[in-house]
Amino acid sequence: MKVLVVGSGGREHAIAYRLALSSKVDEVICVPGNGGTEFEAKCRNVNPKDFPQYENLSLSNAVVKISKDEKVDFAVIGPEDPLADGISDVLWAEGISVVGPKSAGAALEASKDLSKIFMKKYGVACADSATFTDKDKALAYVREKGAPIVVKADGLAAGKGVVVAKTVEEAENAVKMLMEGTSVGDAGKKLVIEEYLQGVEISVLAAVSVNPEDSSKACIKAFLPARDHKRLNDGAQGPNTGGMGAVCPLEDVSAETMRLFDERILQPTLKGLVAEKMDYRGFIFFGLMLTKDGPKALEYNVRLGDPETQAVLPMMDFDFADLCKAIMDGSLKDFDLKWKSGFQVAPVMVSGGYPLKYPKGLPISFDEEEIENSGAKVFIAGAIRDRRAKEKVLITNGGRVLACSAHGGTFDEAWQKAYDALRGISFDGAFYRKDIGLPGAAESN
Ligand code: AMP
Ligand code: GLY
Repeated sequence: MKVLVVGSGGREHAIAYRLALSSKVDEVICVPGNGGTEFEAKCRNVNPKDFPQYENLSLSNAVVKISKDEKVDFAVIGPEDPLADGISDVLWAEGISVVGPKSAGAALEASKDLSKIFMKKYGVACADSATFTDKDKALAYVREKGAPIVVKADGLAAGKGVVVAKTVEEAENAVKMLMEGTSVGDAGKKLVIEEYLQGVEISVLAAVSVNPEDSSKACIKAFLPARDHKRLNDGAQGPNTGGMGAVCPLEDVSAETMRLFDERILQPTLKGLVAEKMDYRGFIFFGLMLTKDGPKALEYNVRLGDPETQAVLPMMDFDFADLCKAIMDGSLKDFDLKWKSGFQVAPVMVSGGYPLKYPKGLPISFDEEEIENSGAKVFIAGAIRDRRAKEKVLITNGGRVLACSAHGGTFDEAWQKAYDALRGISFDGAFYRKDIGLPGAAESN
């Protein structure tokens, strides 16, 4: 089989790596891929910008053409933006099978208002909220409700659209800033203002197979729970980032919590996707707050999480390509999700200055022996091959540069291996958290 993966992050490297591990997969084409997929066994990067026949096409059309030229069996879409833009609608219409929801499903992430309407309609446990397009009404609402309170831009805002306000004044400023378009542009024209939920956060990724042509096969299956660490510094301090490391599974999440999640969030979500006749064949990511009243959904993402994927996919004790096929052909109900025992820990190495300004183009040095001895897998994110060098040289090209993901029978073993590998990698200004997965590292409020 030939498979195509859209995206260029660490998540996509992990997806491509898992697909390439399948004995049924001959080649994984990464569009555009990164410096990790470029050197991964069975993987080949195809950057549309490098080919005259693709360079002037939209991403969707370039992926259609590459899929046809390369005769790929199916495509997996990594990030949310192409999904929201309807890449899956275009691919299915062109006869190309794809893992990733059509745009109607992708709107569950692209519009927070829509996702709240959906959650409330189908009884998904979540925070109370109200939606506003009028600034004065929004301001009156936050004054009436008081703080703490959470102000969210409706649209996709690359992590900059949510303000957890501790005071009414902070909430008022957030309403003004988001609605006046100074921070997130049009994404903030509509706001969702939400009850503040207290607890610790976890991420649960799930495979979804909902095809309106045969709802009897509709199925959703959750993966092991995971946790991202979004703050820059140890002890969950400092600014928010795209994710500084992930662990899977979680010792502090009980079977009872997962049962409540299934009953109050997972199954109602499936019911809603079926009732709305969505063509949702892909992954869904539940951002959850574990409150004293049980788990509540903070958000849906319509894709796998980054860096959760780098910790969750290596725990899979089944063929990821087979899972993708089951999602697409409606046999997910019969697919047995088997997991390795033990733990996976995946700390992320970032560029100095991230999440603000950071340099690019810095050469990365890898002590191959130390990495090999650690047993960890390095998933590359913001790094590309240095085209001027004849040898394999990677240079930084983003804020989150890579993750070292390691497995261990115990958490401590996995943790040690992952950090041993990180110590074998360096570049100017490289930074990583030293406490991923340790007590006190998780975000809580
Ligand atoms: P979201 O993009 O909706 O997941 O929000 C980003 C972050 O804001 C979450 O990961 C939480 O840390 C925080 N957050 C969102 N909604 C709430 C809420 N209702 N109560 C407390 N914190 C929240
Ligand atoms: N880890 C958070 C995200 O992927 O959005």
